[in-house]
Amino acid sequence: MAAVVTPAAQREFAFNRSDFEKVRKTLMSQAGIRLADSKDGMVYSRLARRLRALNMDSFNEYLAYVASSTDEQEQFVNALTTNLTSFFREPHHFDALARYLHEHPETHTIWCAASSTGEEPYSIAMVVAEVYGSYKPPVNIVASDIDSNVLATAQRGVYAANSIEKLSNSRKQQFFHRGTGNNTGKVKVVDELRNMVTFKKINLQQADWGFRREVNVIFCRNVMIYFDKPTQLELLARMVDLLPADGMYVAGHSENFNLQTDLVRPMGKTLYRPVK
Ligand SMILES: C[S@@+](CC[C@H](N)C(=O)[O-])C[C@H]1O[C@@H](n2cnc3c(N)ncnc32)[C@H](O)[C@@H]1O
Repeated sequence: MAAVVTPAAQREFAFNRSDFEKVRKTLMSQAGIRLADSKDGMVYSRLARRLRALNMDSFNEYLAYVASSTDEQEQFVNALTTNLTSFFREPHHFDALARYLHEHPETHTIWCAASSTGEEPYSIAMVVAEVYGSYKPPVNIVASDIDSNVLATAQRGVYAANSIEKLSNSRKQQFFHRGTGNNTGKVKVVDELRNMVTFKKINLQQADWGFRREVNVIFCRNVMIYFDKPTQLELLARMVDLLPADGMYVAGHSENFNLQTDLVRPMGKTLYRPVK
């Protein structure tokens, strides 16, 4: 199907089908992300900001620069990732995590594999702190993403106050400071919770994710959908390799691996146990 291209006359920079194809190819090779034809408008508007920031006049010039600069490749990927997330998104996963921790006191590592701006790993950390009644539990929480901008936001731990609206009062009080003065309308994750999470830049496409021992629980939510099926299955197999037989793999709401019976067995809604 042909890409729907907004008429060039309405755009500040010329952006044709061949530019879109180059972007598509580059993003696939850098991040494994598959862009649908319909993403043409989104690609144009996000990358047009990079052209303006770099004072460039054309996508030709910009894409040649991306090909030659690893720094700009990072900005390119940052610009094109979709980072939507929220605290306790898909809340049943966090109830399942609490149950898992009670049943598996030997749990030592939880990996949040596409942690975006941090709401997801901090939600994990809140559950861990509650289960152990401590900010120094025997559990490492590793949070990673390909996008260096969202990782920086996650590490700051500062959010709009309305992002924690749905949390219980006790979670709000225990885990967040309310901003005052210039910071009115913002909240900050308390340092004790922040210190429970180690943030790392990991591209899921890279050959070695850097784990040297098993990972008991993997949250890999709402990122597989950006990859094609062979890539999804290859990554799932690598994650299954990292999990112990009683480990838990947590998928996003539209990621279904029920047919991958050689790799995983469903153990709840979008929750899986590895087949070992
Ligand atoms: C829609 S967000 C999901 C955030 C969170 N897991 C959630 O479910 O709320 C997808 C995240 O995947 C990240 N991502 C995309 N491609 C990636 C890759 N190849 N390696 C690691 N992270 C990637 C994006 O940067 C983005 O932050």
